Amino acid sequence: MAGMLSTFSLLYLNCIIFTTLLCLQKSMAQVPPTAILAPPPSPSQFSAPPTSSPPPLPPAPPAIALCNLTQIIRDAGRFSTFLQLLNETRALDKFQAQANRTDVGITVFVPTDDAFTLEPAATLLKNLTAEQKVPLAYFHALTKWFSLSELQNVNNMMISTFATYNDNTSGKKYSVNVTNFNGTLSMQTAWSNASITSTPYNAQPCSIYSVNQVLLSVDIFGMPPSAGGGSVNSTNSTAPRPSPPSPPSSGTAKTLYSAVAASIMVLICSFELLVF
Ligand SMILES: *[C@@H]1O[C@H](CO)[C@@H](O)[C@H](O)[C@H]1NC(C)=O
Ligand SMILES: *[C@@H]1O[C@H](CO)[C@@H](O)[C@H](O)[C@H]1NC(C)=O
Ligand SMILES: *[C@@H]1O[C@H](CO)[C@@H](O)[C@H](O)[C@H]1NC(C)=O
Ligand SMILES: *[C@@H]1O[C@H](CO)[C@@H](O)[C@H](O)[C@H]1NC(C)=O
Ligand SMILES: *[C@@H]1O[C@H](CO)[C@@H](O)[C@H](O)[C@H]1NC(C)=O
Ligand SMILES: *[C@@H]1O[C@H](CO)[C@@H](O)[C@H](O)[C@H]1NC(C)=O
Ligand SMILES: *[C@@H]1O[C@H](CO)[C@@H](O)[C@H](O)[C@H]1NC(C)=O
Ligand SMILES: *[C@@H]1O[C@H](CO)[C@@H](O)[C@H](O)[C@H]1NC(C)=O
Ligand SMILES: *[C@@H]1O[C@H](CO)[C@@H](O)[C@H](O)[C@H]1NC(C)=O
Ligand SMILES: *[C@@H]1O[C@H](CO)[C@@H](O)[C@H](O)[C@H]1NC(C)=O
Repeated sequence: MAGMLSTFSLLYLNCIIFTTLLCLQKSMAQVPPTAILAPPPSPSQFSAPPTSSPPPLPPAPPAIALCNLTQIIRDAGRFSTFLQLLNETRALDKFQAQANRTDVGITVFVPTDDAFTLEPAATLLKNLTAEQKVPLAYFHALTKWFSLSELQNVNNMMISTFATYNDNTSGKKYSVNVTNFNGTLSMQTAWSNASITSTPYNAQPCSIYSVNQVLLSVDIFGMPPSAGGGSVNSTNSTAPRPSPPSPPSSGTAKTLYSAVAASIMVLICSFELLVF
């Protein structure tokens, strides 16, 4: 009788200790989730439009030298086809007027003479009307001076061109995708992928970048035939982003494990109390 009583009290004590432990574990288990839920906010992706970035104004602006676009492009040597396009469309005057506004300046992508012989440019440009040549020329400039490093910060972004602001046909965007491929800057459209190959001139208020392809706007040529023809498989070629590992999975497993263990212990306790 005394033995049975002592066994009973021992088991009872056992259950009390266990319940206390269970409560302790429960209160401790509530600490990690709050810690997990308060990580430092992840830096937001680069999303600011290029126009909103502050213009690079020098602290004490001295007299900025005017740049003579005709002279720079002519002296650079291998851009006579483009220079002729600028001249016959009067874009040269428009660009120079923009360059003369030294507070904003201009950025011009000048395709090499070789670029005009490459496909699909060579074929597409054959039938171009005088009217279409104007936005084509305008499409090769930005209405602001961008240094190379500034441009390299504009990544994976559609940016507006001189044509965006100077072609009056409604609904035309004339924007170009500027992408940094491991240090090589490319101006992409559905038709072309023009990379900057050299910098004939880069000083406020003008940047003249040499590109290896003619920039072909979908607002002039429409979309390329979907069947292919060397165009970009934009949506399909881009690999899906790897989803981040889910950190709570191991924690959930632990919680589940202790819950099961607790249930078993409670069952054993109840059973022992019932028996004795
Ligand atoms: C720019 O350079 C061209 C070619 O050298 C020259 O004919 C023209 O007069 C220059 N324009 C100005 C405003 O200096
Ligand atoms: C532009 O064209 C005109 C006539 O067509 C020519 O006289 C002039 O030299 C050209 N200018 C340039 C910079 O090519
Ligand atoms: C640009 O400025 C120069 C020098 O003041 C001037 O000779 C030239 O005509 C201007 N060009 C345009 C297109 O405004
Ligand atoms: C160019 O025009 C010719 C004659 O009008 C036509 O046969 C040809 O298909 C056109 N080429 C393109 C690329 O539009
Ligand atoms: C620009 O081109 C890159 C590379 O092809 C692509 O990943 C990105 O989605 C494009 N960006 C836009 C805004 O279309
Ligand atoms: C666009 O329209 C404005 C006002 O009607 C005119 O001054 C300007 O020259 C036009 N621009 C072009 C590229 O036609
Ligand atoms: C990126 O450029 C670096 C340095 O030039 C080079 O080592 C690396 O192989 C390049 N990566 C790709 C994917 O081209
Ligand atoms: C565009 O050109 C860049 C630089 O040469 C290259 O890395 C990239 O793969 C090209 N993109 C396409 C879609 O061809
Ligand atoms: C582009 O996508 C089409 C259809 O999915 C496919 O047939 C073609 O081979 C792809 N082209 C490239 C260059 O991946
Ligand atoms: C990629 O192309 C395949 C075959 O044309 C198509 O079934 C699939 O939906 C495309 N995926 C995307 C993301 O466009």
